[in-house]
Amino acid sequence: MGTVEVRNGIYWVGAIDWGVRDFHGYITPSGTTYNNYLIMDKEITLVDTVKHDFYESTIRNIRAITDPAEIKHVVINHIENDHVTSIGEIMHFTPKATIYITEKGKKGLDRFYDTSKWNIKTVKTGDTLSIGSKTLLFIETPMLHWPDSMMTYVKEDKVLISQDAFGQHIASSARFDDELIDCESLTFLEDSVIDYYANILMPFGQLIKAKVSDIQKLGLEIEVIAPDHGIIWRRDPGRVIKMYLDMASGKANESVAIIYDTMWHSTEAMTIPIMEGIKDEGLTCRVIKLRATPMSMAIKEFWKARGALIGTPTLNNIMYPSVAEFLTHLRGLRPKNRVAGAFGSYGWGGGAVKEAYEEFKRMGLETFEPGLQVLYRPSRDDETKCYDFGRDFAKKVKEYHKKF
Ligand code: FEO
Repeated sequence: MGTVEVRNGIYWVGAIDWGVRDFHGYITPSGTTYNNYLIMDKEITLVDTVKHDFYESTIRNIRAITDPAEIKHVVINHIENDHVTSIGEIMHFTPKATIYITEKGKKGLDRFYDTSKWNIKTVKTGDTLSIGSKTLLFIETPMLHWPDSMMTYVKEDKVLISQDAFGQHIASSARFDDELIDCESLTFLEDSVIDYYANILMPFGQLIKAKVSDIQKLGLEIEVIAPDHGIIWRRDPGRVIKMYLDMASGKANESVAIIYDTMWHSTEAMTIPIMEGIKDEGLTCRVIKLRATPMSMAIKEFWKARGALIGTPTLNNIMYPSVAEFLTHLRGLRPKNRVAGAFGSYGWGGGAVKEAYEEFKRMGLETFEPGLQVLYRPSRDDETKCYDFGRDFAKKVKEYHKKF
């Protein structure tokens, strides 16, 4: 895809990765894009690069507008590999360009590249760069989502180039929110935002609230948000800011996710009456089998629901490995404002349900106790217990949800 003008001489010159399905372990069923932006002014400025495999795309796109040797400034908002690994090629074309980056970004860049011959200026929040008719304002956003991260605001055009924040993993012919909503749907777009937030930004809710508040204090008018992945927000950038603030404040659906795995279908057999109990209590319920579902999708479904029931068979007195993997992954994301319970089948001594609760407590989740264990296969009597367990869990979720 060729270049696209975002606004007043600011061009998208990135790359579309239609085929990526495993993004460092995060499953991306819709592919992704690596967005970077060329700002045409007296002093031509490139903001971010792209993943190395796609450097020819961005060079071709830049060439469609100008000779890459004419680039005077290169802003690196974030040094993760998907955005910085074309910097060598860019600097090959324009070796005298100056790189603008945070102090922490420079330290990281020095570990990946021989930067001794490059002109590098470190910047902090409030620093500006005049490139002619336009002024760039740099805003550090440490841990959003890396220590080096920052955003670049183009004052005259009210465009916020936001690196990973507000992005989504979507490869599409659409470059803008309005275009994507027309060819897909708002639901698809919002679900992609939630997916991205849940898998990447979940640990940083408090920071997100603080940083959005900082940006608001700076009094910046934001008419376009241009992230490093997915579509650019031009119709309604306020929508994604509100979504972020809502999620950071603990917003979730008043619903339940049952996330389970099973050996010989006994734990699986428990999910049906549990689900019926939840539904009869008036809540919607999504059921996810871990071995049939990519981890990142299970994380998203956990995040969307106020309550989660984790189903695990006992294997060798501990949790089933796929469930343990899921909970370990989840613990790293530091989930908050969710209630969890556990159930499962066992054959000999049991132990998996107890272990699941230990994990919930390590994460600081609200718990619904006791969990439910069934010996071997659930009997009719056990199915009634499962139904009641689901129903009682739904009551707990409804009560807990009132806090938010
Ligand atoms: Fe898209 Fe943190 O890199």
